[in-house]
Amino acid sequence: MPHADSALVPQGLDKAAFWDHIHDQLAALLEGQRNWVTNLANASSLIYNSLLAFEPYFGDKERAVNWCGFYIVSSLFPSPRISQADGNEAEARSQLLLGPFCGKPACQFINTTPGKARGVCADAFLGRRVIRVHNVNEYPGHIACDGETKSEIVCPLTLGANGEEIAVGVLDLDCLAFGGFTEDDERGLEKIADLVVAACDW
Ligand code: SME
Repeated sequence: MPHADSALVPQGLDKAAFWDHIHDQLAALLEGQRNWVTNLANASSLIYNSLLAFEPYFGDKERAVNWCGFYIVSSLFPSPRISQADGNEAEARSQLLLGPFCGKPACQFINTTPGKARGVCADAFLGRRVIRVHNVNEYPGHIACDGETKSEIVCPLTLGANGEEIAVGVLDLDCLAFGGFTEDDERGLEKIADLVVAACDW
């Protein structure tokens, strides 16, 4: 099957079946590759394009998903930019940096230092929990990368190591409609996040 066809969505799926379908497509796409840049690039493209092709929920322009991508903790990048964190090395190593995504340009980095952190991504990352925002204008500290975004869901990417849970980043989706994401999307994305984390070397 050509790679682009992985984002084709069969007719008649409900949301739970849709997310199971994406999960299987993604597992096949990532097989044999452990590099997180490569895997997250195709994961963001697969999720974004499949959602836009999922007509009953996101297929019309008013309800479309307008951004899908990853922010990854800066310590996993080759050289944290200390100058971007007022010279504070710990802060530079704990920022979330923009990773692979689909959609319009977005903010380059997000501070996660307690006291300075703000926004949905930082809160999901620090709290290690999914955050679903019905109306982004009502979320304290929301970072507006695109003024057209109305709702958002952010899912942490967590890795179990030595009995501890470590967050390596977040998966973030934006929608042009209020309340764009439901509990079904939350459950589906959590499974996708687990798959992505397990498929990569960090
Ligand atoms: N809205 C996010 C920032 C990232 S963009 O939506 C792509 C936040 O508040 O953290």
